[in-house]
Amino acid sequence: TKPKVFITRRVPESGPTLLKTQCEVAQWNKDDPIPRNELLSSVKGVDALFCLLTEKIDGELLDAAGTSLKVVGTMSVGYDHVDLQACAERGVKVGFTPNVLTNAVAELTVALLLATSRRLKEAIRAVENGLWGTWKPMWLCGPGLEGSTVGIVGFGRIGMAVARCLKPFAVNCMLYTDFAERPAEAKEIGAEFRSLDEVLAASDFVLACVALTPDTKEMFNKDLFKKMKKTSVFINTSRGGVVQQDDLYQALVSGEIGAAGLDVTTPEPLPTDSPLLTLDNCVALPHIASATHNSRGAMSELTARNILSALNSQPMPSEIKAS
Ligand code: GLV
Ligand code: GLV
Repeated sequence: TKPKVFITRRVPESGPTLLKTQCEVAQWNKDDPIPRNELLSSVKGVDALFCLLTEKIDGELLDAAGTSLKVVGTMSVGYDHVDLQACAERGVKVGFTPNVLTNAVAELTVALLLATSRRLKEAIRAVENGLWGTWKPMWLCGPGLEGSTVGIVGFGRIGMAVARCLKPFAVNCMLYTDFAERPAEAKEIGAEFRSLDEVLAASDFVLACVALTPDTKEMFNKDLFKKMKKTSVFINTSRGGVVQQDDLYQALVSGEIGAAGLDVTTPEPLPTDSPLLTLDNCVALPHIASATHNSRGAMSELTARNILSALNSQPMPSEIKAS
């Protein structure tokens, strides 16, 4: 009999199509998340689970699946929603989707730098609300990227790709910080290592490119915002959880920092009555950094390839192991 796979959402067809060549596939074929109780009953007896970052993969879920479960493939590069320890204890392998979305996320990060520094939200609102009186020399001016200092917090695949994307914008200086220096990559990219405090103090743009872990949870808090320039722009395309969001709001309102561009928030979706949305200097997007047709298709396919490899006892293209 064929192995059973459960897919927790409607996803690009590349993944399901590949899985169906070898597996019996069941799917929550909707755009909205599967309710937790439905998920717990749907995974019973499956060999593999194809999930998204909206599903919490914990001991309860793994036990609901039972001992047949061999692999969980998440269609995401982030895996803070997966309890790796609980998976390891039950011998369940975990796959994720790095690389295939790196450029898409870097691109959207640059879009947020431009949207915030060039005040696109205010500008669009002005046009739509009839506030565009005439061409005015002093109107809607902002700092450009040219000549600026960009500080990248977390110099992994995505942080490095953002730095590469920024090259044509004639940024003056690219700084990065991370747990360890990456001298070879930094040299090639033209970025310089600094301590976190030095990055915060020197940068016109501070980019959160770290994974959400116990070490990075709410690391961007009022102490860090205080260390940034009053004109600095804070950009987050990693996870909402790396930011203390009330502190961010206060920093934006009090002028501690200049602006923020967020693709990720706490919670998601961000409630429409969130005070952040009242601010002209805060651009919030609905977690779309990897949302290009190509990236999402490749993420779906890679998730399927991770699952099939594990089911066939072969090395997975992208496996995460508990550390
Ligand atoms: C998106 O946030 C991802 O982790 O792939
Ligand atoms: C702007 O449109 C200019 O001509 O300077």
